[in-house]
Amino acid sequence: MQKITKICCIGAGYVGGPTMSVIANQCPEIEVTVVDINQNRIDQWNDENLDNLPIYEPGLKEIVAETRGKNLFFSTEVDKAIDEAQLIFISVNTPTKTYGKGKGQAADLKYIELCARNIARVAKDDKIVVEKSTLPVRTAGAIKSILQNTGNGVNFEILSNPEFLAEGTAINDLLNADRVLIGGDETPSGQEAKDALSAIYLQWLPKERVLQTNVWSSELSKLVANAFLAQRVSSINSISALCEKTDANIAEVSRAIGFDSRIGSKFLNSSVGFGGSCFQKDILNLVYIARSFGLPEVADYWEQVIIMNDYQKKRFAENIITTLYNTVSGKKIVFYGWAFKKDTNDTRESAAIYVADALLDEQAEIVVYDPKVPAERVYADLDYLNTRSPEENRRLLKVVNDPSEAVEDAHAVAVLTEWDEFKTYDWKAIYDKMLKPAFVFDGRRLLDKEEMETLGFDYYKIGQS
Ligand code: NAD
Ligand code: UGA
Repeated sequence: MQKITKICCIGAGYVGGPTMSVIANQCPEIEVTVVDINQNRIDQWNDENLDNLPIYEPGLKEIVAETRGKNLFFSTEVDKAIDEAQLIFISVNTPTKTYGKGKGQAADLKYIELCARNIARVAKDDKIVVEKSTLPVRTAGAIKSILQNTGNGVNFEILSNPEFLAEGTAINDLLNADRVLIGGDETPSGQEAKDALSAIYLQWLPKERVLQTNVWSSELSKLVANAFLAQRVSSINSISALCEKTDANIAEVSRAIGFDSRIGSKFLNSSVGFGGSCFQKDILNLVYIARSFGLPEVADYWEQVIIMNDYQKKRFAENIITTLYNTVSGKKIVFYGWAFKKDTNDTRESAAIYVADALLDEQAEIVVYDPKVPAERVYADLDYLNTRSPEENRRLLKVVNDPSEAVEDAHAVAVLTEWDEFKTYDWKAIYDKMLKPAFVFDGRRLLDKEEMETLGFDYYKIGQS
């Protein structure tokens, strides 16, 4: 079996950066080079001040500090890194298509294809090419076709090795992965490639957690894992609406069903709706694939997970409007949190964006505080929706660095992200600063209802009447 000593990863994003940092850290004999076409991102990865890394993840900067410059390198020299590596991870973005056939559902594979063509152009010796990005089932076929037609005699083995890390816990997820999935051809050379990649993960993970499958099962399993996880959130969120009508408490229902070992207790936290770059994109992709294979019932089934998530975000915004006497025009509403979950600076598809958009439509004045998200990001998220002009977004919404100053004369606070620090705030002082009645809309079930009501708040907690 080929022993891997040089790895290249194309794409220095939320997956490429942390994943390669952990591989470099766990495998000191392997030289890992992470490349990206985004110079700014690479400069941030190389910044001497580790607080300026492009991604915030607990534990990441410590690992980068230990490995960067030793066997972990960040560079924009894509061709050089491809040329030198025996194994190349493709970890570029695969967003939902915004144009043409499959617009709004299918995965846009143009970045993947560019990488394949780049590898085909540069490679002078045999390579293992690993799909790390999340891809539609059968994408490996397209990559193989591009790579096998170079005419330069180079052999490529294509593996699928999807990533299952969650943001905010990425380092822990990588170090203690439930499983690593490696799909490849069921041929002697395919097996050899699978074993070469397995050997890397086996440096720190037990054998039984490294699963080998055929390439199509691996590609599809990634989409299915995300669909099942998101389905749990939508399922519990659908019941949260029913709880609010019936005096049942969603936390008690979650606990009661979660005790059934067949159901399990994880991923049953009701919220304002799931966000993140992948759940929606991957389910839409699954829906698209099912429909293209002539399976409309399968497509409709999974599409409902997204419909329910949109409903939950809309329901939360509408509840704010109706509770504030059917008008939020000119009212100051403070958002605690903008990131799609705690412990990350990522805001992609965050529920906060859609709740803000709905309230801005009603002329609310929003003030956002998030411990890790900068103002430019908040405005970029809103501008991207194209609902109103950038000037209007900046006129109606302000971003602040001080959570207590934000609440001065506010009509309401909405908790959109479950940052731990929100629990430690002096809510009595917050109450004193706000206009009365002072409303709190807790989209993360973060605070204690009884305590908040004792302080005088009109407190609404999702999933509880
Ligand atoms: P990202 O947008 O953070 O990073 C992708 C990077 O690839 C960008 O920096 C971009 O500049 C770079 N890139 C694009 N085309 C390139 C090219 N031709 N050459 C060099 N660099 C190029 O994306 P991400 O969140 O890291 O996600 C990457 C993939 O991993 C996606 O398919 C996603 O579905 C999947 N995934 C993401 C997560 C997550 O938590 N974010 C988890 C599991 C899987
Ligand atoms: C998710 C999966 O958990 C990862 O396994 C997968 O690798 C990744 O997507 C991906 O492919 O990108 P991530 O989106 O980073 O990871 O974070 P999650 O912890 O899954 O949370 C997703 C969203 O669901 C967040 O908005 C979170 O607040 C919400 N959520 C999660 C709930 O509302 N309730 C829950 O019980 C759990």
